[in-house]
Amino acid sequence: MNVLVVGSGGREHAILWKLAQSPKVEKLYCAPGNGGTAQLAVNVPIPVHDFAALAQFVKEEGIDLTVVGPEGPLLAGIVDFFQQRSLPIFGPSAKAAMIEGSKSFAKCLMKRYGIPTARYESFIDYQSALAYVKEQAVPIVIKADGLAAGKGVVIAGTQEEAQEALYQIMQGSEFGQAGSRVIVEEYMSGEELTLLAFVDGETVKPMITSQDHKAVYDGGKGPNTGGMGSYAPVPHLSGKLVDEVVETIVKPTAAGMVKEGIPFCGVLYTGLMITEEGPKVVEFNARFGDPETQAVLPLLETDLADIFIAAINGELSSIDIAWKRESAVCVVMAAPGYPGKYPKGAVIEGIGAETDGQVVFHAGTKQTEQGLVTDGGRVLGVTGIAGSLAEARDAAYAAADRISFEGKHYRTDIAASGLRK
Ligand code: AMP
Ligand code: GLY
Repeated sequence: MNVLVVGSGGREHAILWKLAQSPKVEKLYCAPGNGGTAQLAVNVPIPVHDFAALAQFVKEEGIDLTVVGPEGPLLAGIVDFFQQRSLPIFGPSAKAAMIEGSKSFAKCLMKRYGIPTARYESFIDYQSALAYVKEQAVPIVIKADGLAAGKGVVIAGTQEEAQEALYQIMQGSEFGQAGSRVIVEEYMSGEELTLLAFVDGETVKPMITSQDHKAVYDGGKGPNTGGMGSYAPVPHLSGKLVDEVVETIVKPTAAGMVKEGIPFCGVLYTGLMITEEGPKVVEFNARFGDPETQAVLPLLETDLADIFIAAINGELSSIDIAWKRESAVCVVMAAPGYPGKYPKGAVIEGIGAETDGQVVFHAGTKQTEQGLVTDGGRVLGVTGIAGSLAEARDAAYAAADRISFEGKHYRTDIAASGLRK
């Protein structure tokens, strides 16, 4: 089989790394890819939104399967485009991807099917939203409806902050279309958990649990990022709790989408808050998480190509998915200044001495005549894999310490919450 992975981050590198282990996979391609994917796959310089060029390339090269990493092309209909041309592709249709693309769509679906989530109201009129917010207790959560690259959520501790956030999202220019509708949501407290699941229609095959670390600095301080690290499985949030999440959240969501006539096929990402009243949904995403994938896929025993093919053929129920009884920790190494402005082009040194339990996934890197250089805010995701979470963490940090580029920074407390409990 020849496989094309669409995207260019650490998540896509991890998908390729796992696919490369499959005896069924012959040749791998990545569009557009990065400096790390180039070592496993042929990087193809086609942008993720150029569906016509991607489909043309797939036909010409005899590619048997396309896998989509990021949400942008999914929401823009890449799966529909490929299916109309009978080209096999793994991921949800544009309509099904709305579970990520529109928070009000996801919220309505949850309300209709009794899926536990924070209470909310949705508004398109600024004055009505303002009147509603004024009546609410704080903290309160204000969210732009559409995709806002992780920046469209404000947790307001005071009425002033809440009203300012509402004004910025609905009346300011920063959010454009994403801010024309707003969700005002009850604040939930508890620990956050990610549960990824392979889904085809009503069949749900959960992966192992994982946790992301969104804030840029240790202890959850500083502004939110795309994710500064992850670990899997989460030892204190597994077992019975996962069964409860699958039965009360993931399965009813998948079944609800089938009932609505928009079956979901792909990876459903459920972001959860484990509250005192039980697990509740924070958000759904229509794809693998980044950087959760860099900790989850290294523990997958089953052939990933088999899973993708089974899902596409509607045969996911017939496949057994096995996981290694080990732990993985992924430490994201970021450029100085990230998540704000950051430089590119710094030379990266120290990759190549990894042992068996260490993998370096590239996120923002590029191969140049000077060698490997930084090319994004999140530069690398360094994963340690070992029999215990503590050993996996030590392996990840040992590998990260060997790697250098100017201004490199990473959190030193990835997986600490899992080790404390
Ligand atoms: P979202 O883009 O919906 O995932 O929100 C981004 C982050 O904001 C989440 O990962 C949570 O940490 C936080 N968050 C979102 N909604 C809530 C809520 N209702 N209560 C508390 N925290 C929230
Ligand atoms: N790790 C958060 C995300 O993938 O959206």
